Amino acid sequence: MSGVQGRVVVVTGAGGGLGRAYALLLARSGASVVVNDLGGARDGSGAGHSMADAVVAEIRALGGNAVANYDSVTTARGAAAIVGTAIEEFGALHGVVNNAGILRDAAFHKMADEQWDAVLEVHLAGGYHVTREAWPHFREQGFGRVVMATSTSGLYGNFGQSNYGTAKNALVGLVNTLALEGAKYNIRVNAVAPMAATRMTEDVAPAELLEKLAPEHIAPVVGHLLTEECEDSGTVLVAGGGQVHRVQLFQSKGVTFDDVPTLQQVADRWKDITSMDGAVPGTNPVG
Ligand code: NAI
Repeated sequence: MSGVQGRVVVVTGAGGGLGRAYALLLARSGASVVVNDLGGARDGSGAGHSMADAVVAEIRALGGNAVANYDSVTTARGAAAIVGTAIEEFGALHGVVNNAGILRDAAFHKMADEQWDAVLEVHLAGGYHVTREAWPHFREQGFGRVVMATSTSGLYGNFGQSNYGTAKNALVGLVNTLALEGAKYNIRVNAVAPMAATRMTEDVAPAELLEKLAPEHIAPVVGHLLTEECEDSGTVLVAGGGQVHRVQLFQSKGVTFDDVPTLQQVADRWKDITSMDGAVPGTNPVG
């Protein structure tokens, strides 16, 4: 199979914004798509069917295959229903795009437990539950592709987004281990940090910048990660406005102390420890 032709893909949060662009590109490219969306507001409040239904109607009008699902990604039961929709409607599942997301920004000193929990529930628990539910199908068929939506807010930090950034970077941790565990079953797991004009970003960037950041720019990158041809796993990409970059953690050359160092010895070598001259990609020394 080449590209995503004939593949069945779940896109969570596909009732608008980036998820809608992913679903449309996948369907146009021959995939059958489960358009999942809870249908709530940007902060996760509310629910409804109209968002997912509208995207399914758009896809069908183009002659594509799509079915709606309205469950929340936040529970195992919701995830089972989402994956179940793919199996019942299309007879298989080959790829998952964990795209559903909400925002509840607050400076850390004002962060309420409820804001923290709600954001981690959708992004992190959501990414976990849907992938966990899809995983046995992927292992059994010896093929699976997972794309996590991460964020530069998680990779680099962003004021007011400690909850969101934590969840988004935690998904990269999940990617790292799933890439290892999925390798022998031909399951590839990667992450994309998008930059796009959607309801999530409408008030965080100037209009002139947002004009250049159509969600459609990111869809082919996500689409490529869902193909059999793409064998990469454990990679993190940043994409937006026509630019696509890979992001990777590097480790400095550092220093080796022969004995337990004193405070002063650490201070004396601090520049050598932290200098990134000659740094190499980091790896797990006990992995
Ligand atoms: P969006 O708000 O348009 O899309 C998110 C979708 O997820 C919405 O349609 C919403 O109804 C759905 N959703 C929320 N909670 C859900 C739940 N519990 N179950 C199922 N669906 C749920 O925002 P956008 O920008 O399209 O975001 C898509 C993803 O990309 C998110 O994960 C976001 O964090 C991420 N992202 C977006 C960036 C951007 O520049 N727009 C930047 C970095 C990351």
